[in-house]
Amino acid sequence: MKAAIITKYKQITPMVTEVPVPTIAPTDVLVKIVAASVNPIDLKTKDGDLRLLLQYTMPLIMGSDFAGVITAVGDQVPDFKVGDAVYGRAPKDRIGTFAEFIAIDHQAIALKPANLNFEEAAAIPLVGLTSYQALHDIMNIQPGQKVFIPGGSGGIGIIAIQLAKYFGAYVATTTSAKHFDLVQSLGADKIIDYHQQDFTDVLSHYDAVLDTRGGQSLEAAFQIIKPGGQIVSIAGLPNARFGKDYGLPIWKQWLLGLATRKLSRLEQQAQATYSFLFMQPSGQQLVRLRQLIEQGVIKPVVDRIIPLTDINAALEYSHSGHTTGKIIISIQPN
Ligand SMILES: NC(=O)c1ccc[n+]([C@@H]2O[C@H](COP(=O)([O-])OP(=O)(O)OC[C@H]3O[C@@H](n4cnc5c(N)ncnc54)[C@H](OP(=O)(O)O)[C@@H]3O)[C@@H](O)[C@H]2O)c1
Repeated sequence: MKAAIITKYKQITPMVTEVPVPTIAPTDVLVKIVAASVNPIDLKTKDGDLRLLLQYTMPLIMGSDFAGVITAVGDQVPDFKVGDAVYGRAPKDRIGTFAEFIAIDHQAIALKPANLNFEEAAAIPLVGLTSYQALHDIMNIQPGQKVFIPGGSGGIGIIAIQLAKYFGAYVATTTSAKHFDLVQSLGADKIIDYHQQDFTDVLSHYDAVLDTRGGQSLEAAFQIIKPGGQIVSIAGLPNARFGKDYGLPIWKQWLLGLATRKLSRLEQQAQATYSFLFMQPSGQQLVRLRQLIEQGVIKPVVDRIIPLTDINAALEYSHSGHTTGKIIISIQPN
C-alpha cells in the first residue's frame, strides 16, 4: 500500500512509498482509509518535538485521524463489520493514517456521521475529541459561563466554539478580520482581531480559557481568568501534575515542574487552575460527537483537500499556521 513515512526525526519531507498492508490483532479492524486530516501534531511528531511524551520506532507512517471503510475484522471485535464506514483517531503508539490502510483497535473508532462525506468526517476526530475533553471532561462548562478560545478559525477553534455554545457558554475568540464572518456563524459572541487588539485589553473575569496558542498568549490568559477559573492548555507546556497523571518517570515530572515554574506562580496569583491536556483517542466519545454532528450542533470546516502524493505541500501549508479549519488528505476513493 502507499503510505507517507519518515525514517528519522527532523526528516525534512516525508516520502510516499510502498509498505506492507498492516496485519490486524484480534481486537483490531483493518480500515481502507478514504481521507485523513492534517494536524499540527504531525509536524511536531516529525520533528521529534514530543519525544518527552511519545517515542516512535522508525520508519513511521505519519497521520493521526481518518475516515474510511472496514475491510477486515479481528476475532474479538463485537461491534463492527466489514463494510462499515467509520472514523477515528489512532492510538498514539500506533499512528499511521497517511496510508491506504490502518489496523486499529475497535475501541478507538466509531461509525462515521451519516450526514458527512469521508473528507468532512476525517476533519473531526482529533480536534473533536480534544475540544470535547477540554470543555466537557475537564472544564465541565455550564450555561452562562464565559469561555475564551483563541484561534477561533483553526482546527480546534472551529469545533471548540460550536461545542462551547452547545454547552451554553458565552464565547470570546481571536482571529483575523477575514475570518470574522466564519467564527460569528459558528456562534462566537465576542470576536477580537489579534492583529489589532490584545485580548487582555478587552476580556476580563472569564470562567475558562481553552488555550490553543501557548507561550505569551497562555501567560496572558491568567490576566483575564477569574478566581476559581480554569485554564486548559493544549499548546503550552505540560506541568508536573500532568506528568504524574500521564505516568512519566519522576525525573521527567521534575523537569516539567522546573519548566513551568512561571505558570505555577501565575496560577497561584490568579487563584485559578492550570491544566495541560494531551487528548486521548476514544471511540465512545466519537459516538457522542457523531450524535452532535447528526443533530446539526457541530459541523466541520474543510480548508482544502490535497492528495496523499502532495503530502509535503499539505504539511507546509499547515506549518503556515493560518489555515481555515482543516486540511484533508485524500487517500483513495471509497
Ligand atoms: N494537546 C493536544 O492534545 C492537542 C490536540 C490538538 C491540537 N493541539 C495543539 O493546539 C494548537 C492549535 O491547533 P489547531 O489544529 O487549531 O491549529 P491550526 O488549525 O493550525 O490553527 C490555525 C489558526 O490559528 C489562527 N492563528 C494564527 N496565529 C494566531 C494568533 N496569534 N492568535 C489567534 N489565532 C491565530 C489562524 O488564524 P488566521 O489565519 O486568522 O491567522 C488559523 O485559523 C496546535 O499547537 C496544536 O498542536 C494540541
